Amino acid sequence: MCGIVGCILKENEDVAPILFDCISKLEYRGYDSIGLATFSDGKINIKKDKGKIIEVDKSLDLKDMPGSFGIAHVRWATHGDPSKLNAHPHVDEDNTVAVVHNGIIENYLEIKEELISEGHVFKSDTDTEVIAHLIEKFMDEGFDLEHAVRKTIGIIEGAYALAAISINEPDKIVATRKDSPLIVGLGENGYYLASDSPAILKYAKDIIYPEKGEIVIIDRDGVVVHDEFDNVVNKDIETINWTPEMAEKEGYDHFMIKEINEQATAVRNTLTQRENVQEIIDDIGDIQRICFVACGTSYHASLTGKYLMESLAGIPTDVILASEFKYSANTLNDKTLVIFISQSGETADSLKALDVANQTSKTLGIVNVAGSAITRRADYVIQTQAGPEIGVAATKTYVAQLTSIYLLAALVSENDELLNELDMVPDFIDETLKDVDYVMELSKRYNYARDFFYLGRGYSYPTALEGALKLKEISYIHGEGYAAGELKHGPLALIDEGIPVVVIIPPGDNYRKTMSNLEEVKSRGANVLAIGSKDDESLKAKANAVIGINPEVKEIIAPLVYIVPLQLIAYYITLEKGHDPDKPKNLAKCVTVE
Ligand code: G6P
Repeated sequence: MCGIVGCILKENEDVAPILFDCISKLEYRGYDSIGLATFSDGKINIKKDKGKIIEVDKSLDLKDMPGSFGIAHVRWATHGDPSKLNAHPHVDEDNTVAVVHNGIIENYLEIKEELISEGHVFKSDTDTEVIAHLIEKFMDEGFDLEHAVRKTIGIIEGAYALAAISINEPDKIVATRKDSPLIVGLGENGYYLASDSPAILKYAKDIIYPEKGEIVIIDRDGVVVHDEFDNVVNKDIETINWTPEMAEKEGYDHFMIKEINEQATAVRNTLTQRENVQEIIDDIGDIQRICFVACGTSYHASLTGKYLMESLAGIPTDVILASEFKYSANTLNDKTLVIFISQSGETADSLKALDVANQTSKTLGIVNVAGSAITRRADYVIQTQAGPEIGVAATKTYVAQLTSIYLLAALVSENDELLNELDMVPDFIDETLKDVDYVMELSKRYNYARDFFYLGRGYSYPTALEGALKLKEISYIHGEGYAAGELKHGPLALIDEGIPVVVIIPPGDNYRKTMSNLEEVKSRGANVLAIGSKDDESLKAKANAVIGINPEVKEIIAPLVYIVPLQLIAYYITLEKGHDPDKPKNLAKCVTVE
C-alpha cells in the first residue's frame, strides 16, 4: 500500500544511495512505480517512473542524484494508473515542494477543483498531488513548511503518512501521519522516516513512533515532534531488536522461501511468549465470548483459533472478517474479548474494527510488528516473534500467529499435554521441509492445472483455505478451499477428470470421514494429492500422490505443520510458471486502505 522514506544525513554526502537502499526494502508495500526526490543547489531533483525498482534503476540510475537529504516512494496504485506522471514524489507546478504519501485522500477531487479554479495546474491523476499544491499555496501565503503541512492536514480527509521538502527551507523534512504507518529512526549518520522498520534497520535502531496529527521536523541537528498546538512532544525512543540481515535474502532466491525455512525458528521464538500470555489471561479475568477479527491469512489463523477455543476452553468463539466487523458490533459487551490478528498491525480494516471493539470490549492484538498501530491501540498485545516478513504471501507470520493462538488456548484451558506437543512443532516443521525435492517434483506435475481444490475437516479446514490462498495469490491459479464435507453440496459438480484436489488428512478423529470425501472426488476422476501421515499405507494406495508428514503430528497440532508443504507447492508452482512469488500482481503486504 505504498511505502515512503525520508533521510537527512548529518554530513554533506549524497543521500540518494541510502534512500534507494531504504526504499528497496519497502518494495513489498508496492511495486508499480518508484521515485526519489533530493535537494541540491537550490532545487529539487526528481527521478521517478513506473516499473519495479530494479527496472527503473536500470534506466534512470536512481542512486546517482546529488543532495544530502530527500524523500522516496514505492507505489501501489489507487488513484491513477501506474505511470511516470502518477509516480511519487509529486510537486507543485514550480517544483518548489515535493511530497511522498502513503494512504488515500478521500476529498481530493473537491480540493483539486478549488485549486484549479485558483490557477493551480495539475499533472497527475493522483489524490496525492493536491498535498504538494496545498503546501505550496500556504507557503506562498507566508507559512513555513511545518505550518503549511499543518494547514494542509486541516483540509485533507482520509489516511496518510506523508513527508515533504521545500526549496525555501533547505535541510529539512517535515512529516506527519493519520491512519497510515510512519516511524522515525535516529541513526548515527542521520535521521530517517519510513513506513516500516525493514527500510531503516541498517541505519537506525532507535525509533520514535509519531501519533496521529503530530508533526515531525527533521534537520541535520535532530528530530523534533510537535503536537497540534506547536508544543514539543517528548517522545519515547524504542530500540528495535531486529537485525538488518533478517530483512535480507541471505542466499535464498526469494524472501518467501527464506521465510518458509524460518518457520521452526518463528514457532520456537513465539513460544517464549508463554509468560506474557499467562499474565494477559490472568489480567483479563472473566470472558464469556471471544471474537477473532482479521483479514487474509490472519483470518485463517483466526479460524483455527475458533476450533481451539471452543473445543479446549469451551468459550463460544466467532471469527469475523475485519471489513465486516461493524455489522456485528451490536452483539459485543464487556465480557467479550475481541482478538485482532495481524502480521503488519496496520491493516486499515482491522484498525477500524479495533476502534469499534474498544468502545465496549476488551481487546487483544496478536501482531508481528512492534510499535504498529494495533499494538498501540489494543488493551493487550502478544507479539509474534517471526522477525521481519518481506514476502507478500504470509508464511512464517502465519505459523507464529497460530503458535500464539495455541499458547492462549492451551493456557486458558490449562492443557499441559498440548503445551508439550507445541514444543515439538519446530522439529516437525524442519523435518517436513526436508521433503522439498519431492514437492518440487510434484510442482512440475501439477503446474498444468487451471483450478485446484483443497479439502480439510475440523482443524484442517482453515489449513485448506490457507493452502488455496497461497496458491492463488502467487501462482494466479484458481485455488478453492472447502470444508471436506461441504464439497458434495455444490463444488463436486466442478470435479472433473484430472483436476487436482489437495486433501489434508492427518491421523485423528476426522480421518475416516475425510477419507470418504477423498474417495468421492477420486471416483469422479480427480487427481488427488494427499497430505497425511508418512506411515499411512491405505492413503498411499488411494491418492495419486502423498506428501508424508511425521505420524506423531496429530490432528490438533497439524495446522502448524501441514501448512508447510502447501506453502512449498504454491512457491514451486509459481516458479514453474515464471512468476515472482515475492511480489504478486495487484497485492501488497500491508493494506492501509479500507
Ligand atoms: C494483505 C497481505 C496478506 C495478509 C492480509 C492481512 O492482504 O497480502 O498476506 O494476510 O493483508 O494483513 P495483516 O497484516 O492484518 O495480517
